Amino acid sequence: MKSPSSRPAGRRSRLSRALSSRRRHPLAAIAVLVAVLFTCGGAYAALAPSASVSTDAASSTQIDDGKKLFAVGCASCHGLGGEGIVKEDGTVLGPSLIGVGAAAVDFQVGTGRMPMAAPNAQAERKPVAYNDEQIAALSAYVASLAPGPDVPDEEDVDPSAGDVARGGELFRANCAQCHNTTGQGGALSMGQYAPSLTGVSPKHIYEAMITGPQAMPVFNDETIPAQDKQDIIAFLKSVEEEPNPGGLGIGRAGPVAEGLWAWLIGIGVLIGMATWIVTRSSKS
Ligand code: HEC
Ligand code: HEC
Repeated sequence: MKSPSSRPAGRRSRLSRALSSRRRHPLAAIAVLVAVLFTCGGAYAALAPSASVSTDAASSTQIDDGKKLFAVGCASCHGLGGEGIVKEDGTVLGPSLIGVGAAAVDFQVGTGRMPMAAPNAQAERKPVAYNDEQIAALSAYVASLAPGPDVPDEEDVDPSAGDVARGGELFRANCAQCHNTTGQGGALSMGQYAPSLTGVSPKHIYEAMITGPQAMPVFNDETIPAQDKQDIIAFLKSVEEEPNPGGLGIGRAGPVAEGLWAWLIGIGVLIGMATWIVTRSSKS
């Protein structure tokens, strides 16, 4: 049986319980969270500058700017309309850029390979001659000539979203024959070489794969799907950060060299000890 004095307290607590339960209703928390996310997302989408240079996103002024830059810096070798120039004796001053896409331009100009200074066996990495805005304009112009591979989005090249171990396997299967097991690079035939991949930005690694500069093959999404490309990027970034295990960098030739050194030194020490023991015991 309840005591009469407990009744008002009970009513009050029931009321406050009802209030607080409404305030702390699990759906209320979710509703607030959703509202906040929508507001932030909307504000971000409205305010963030679009970094993409895809043909539909590129404005006609950007394409016009690119066309002007192209006429001054690139047309002497690639032709005024990017159709390429072949001299009468058959030497190619510059190949056609119809259909190479924004990614090829962003890679070639963004790594300083283009504009090429002189016809060499291989376009080399040089200080970059254009700023980001100009590179985006040049890319937009070439992409407007014909569809081709686009510059990847930032989240597609984020090394932290890749699997390092899988990337290592993929790299050894697809890239190591030219670039070496940890991407130090190596010589190819005819005076060409596969460059070292240390310090290459994730975006340019991705673009190299989808455009296949020079002697490098194109790795499209059928050969290496986008997630696998991200794994390869994660692997390449991890070998850059990794200090040489064991202190001494023995040419980074991998576990074989390290094992060999351990074996040679280990066996040498054992032989030395055995000789010492034998000479001592035979003397006494
Ligand atoms: C001195 C001549 C020369 C100039 C100037 C030049 N290029 Fe090139 N370009 C070449 C040659 C030769 C190649 C092919 C050699 C190679 O890929 O290593 C090439 C390759 C390219 C490629 C790669 C095409 C592909 O199939 O992937 C792109 C993209 C490119 N150039 C863009 C440009 C742009 C943009 C400019 C101006 C900023 C420019 N080039 C200036 C000679 C030139
Ligand atoms: C057949 C040999 C070959 C294979 C296989 C190959 N590459 Fe290349 N790679 C090259 C050559 C040659 C160049 C230099 C192109 C140039 O200078 O225009 C290059 C350039 C690059 C660059 C540009 C480096 C820089 O200095 O800007 C990157 C990044 C790259 N390769 C990544 C890869 C990855 C990742 C793979 C595997 C998915 C791969 N390559 C497979 C030959 C190869």
